[in-house]
Amino acid sequence: MKSSPWWKEATIYQIYPRSYFDSNGDGEGDLPGITSKLEYVKSLGVDAIWLSPFYTSPNKDGGYDVANPRDVDPRFGNLADAKQMIDVAHELDLRVLVDIVPNHFSDQHVWFQEALKAGRGSLERARFHFYDANTDGTPPNNWISLFGGPSWTQVEDGQFYLHLFDSSQPDLNWDNPDVDEDFEKTLRFWLDLGADGFRIDVAHGLVKEDVLKDHPDPQGLSDALRLDMPMDPERRYALLPTVPYFDRQGVHEIYRKWRAIFNSYGSRDVMAVAEAWVHPPVNATRYVRPDELHQVFNFDLLDASFNAEQLYRLMSGALDLMKSVEALPTWALSNHDSPRVASRIGEIESRALALFVLALPGSCYVFAGQELGLPDGVIPDESRQDPIYFRTKGAQKGRDGARVPLPWNGETAPFGFTSGSPWLPLQDSWKELTVEKQESDPKSVLNLYRNALNLRAEHLVNNGEVEWIESPTHGSKSESLLAFKRGNVSVYMNLANSPVEVQVSGKLLVVSAGTVDGRDGKVTIPPVSTLWLHH
Ligand code: NOJ
Repeated sequence: MKSSPWWKEATIYQIYPRSYFDSNGDGEGDLPGITSKLEYVKSLGVDAIWLSPFYTSPNKDGGYDVANPRDVDPRFGNLADAKQMIDVAHELDLRVLVDIVPNHFSDQHVWFQEALKAGRGSLERARFHFYDANTDGTPPNNWISLFGGPSWTQVEDGQFYLHLFDSSQPDLNWDNPDVDEDFEKTLRFWLDLGADGFRIDVAHGLVKEDVLKDHPDPQGLSDALRLDMPMDPERRYALLPTVPYFDRQGVHEIYRKWRAIFNSYGSRDVMAVAEAWVHPPVNATRYVRPDELHQVFNFDLLDASFNAEQLYRLMSGALDLMKSVEALPTWALSNHDSPRVASRIGEIESRALALFVLALPGSCYVFAGQELGLPDGVIPDESRQDPIYFRTKGAQKGRDGARVPLPWNGETAPFGFTSGSPWLPLQDSWKELTVEKQESDPKSVLNLYRNALNLRAEHLVNNGEVEWIESPTHGSKSESLLAFKRGNVSVYMNLANSPVEVQVSGKLLVVSAGTVDGRDGKVTIPPVSTLWLHH
């Protein structure tokens, strides 16, 4: 069953276009490649796809540096290919979300090029954040870019421009009405082409305050914002709400306007999901107020350990938080910015966690390749492309590992992804992970996702709230057991390396690994495994 509206409890499959399927042998995935694989996507049982950017871009940050938001980069095809992809998806009853990148443009965007030429004080520069240097020649403030290094780059006439990310991604000035108008045009452009909604990049970042003020601890703040940087949680918690460029009240006015645009498309049920990293977590609920956006990403599980206490806290916390505004959470275990879940917590653990999460209320985002249990790719330094690697002078390896192309078929890399040379190397060791191999193995991760997604639609979508049965604060069976009931289904996850016996009866719907032993009202859950029982 589909939820109503469709996005409420949807499963949304994230495609990184450059890594999905290459139709023309240039070593990079493209839109016709995606179109040719939509039957496969449909076979997974997902409701929608979200595509990372495929717009005109010099590709300094994987396309999140947009030079023309209303056209397709030739590496991915053209607008007719985009239309064709959307139409074929719709024929298959798949919705299509596209990425919108409103915090910044590429420095190759015509506006930025005009701003460089027009000089200080011009209307063209007012679309970005251009300021003079301090009297000692230093940049206007001490902010550190989220990709490392200063947030400011100086242009020929001595002025600096602000970029929260790479120097090739100048931040837009949302106080300027041109910016507002241009994004309205872009939203309508993709909706008119048939898109069903948007994933909003850096949704919390558009409005800046105190642009000329130094932060008291820029390095601390920069570290606090990085998930991979160990930090005393109290210090992190104290620093995060002090970010002067995130989660300002002004962003909500923008989303109220956007919501009116989405609503004007009526029964098409256009939806948008915010990429918003905000603190304290309760602030996330503001993005899904009834007159704002439909969903906000919940990134808690992207770096959570495979630990019952922590997972319970994060999951029940997200459910309670969203309940307070009558919304449902979203769930993600991997995306193009973070290590793949199979590498991060282990293959068998990632199967168990995925099956547990797919039973929760809300929408699940599945990053392409996750359904194959793909680990991160091993990237030689000379092949790296992520600006994070370059801006930190190699101190951080960056996100390329999660972006390696998908293995489709055959016995050797690049496993059918391309007839040319892939833009990032696929691992020879992935030969058992190809779609072709996994299709024929009933116990493969691929078939686990397919079964789970079908069963989720049949038994769980629209089927009520979570009632916890086993958690650190419910039941007492084992410290490594989490369980809840939803409607007629009970879901058990055994995180321990040994089996655990529980007193319950029901029909086994699916198990993530191992063989389930059930009789006389008792079920033995295999080690590191999740199962769903139907009552
Ligand atoms: C978030 C995107 O997911 C990431 O890939 C990108 O680098 C930054 N935003 C900047 O656009």
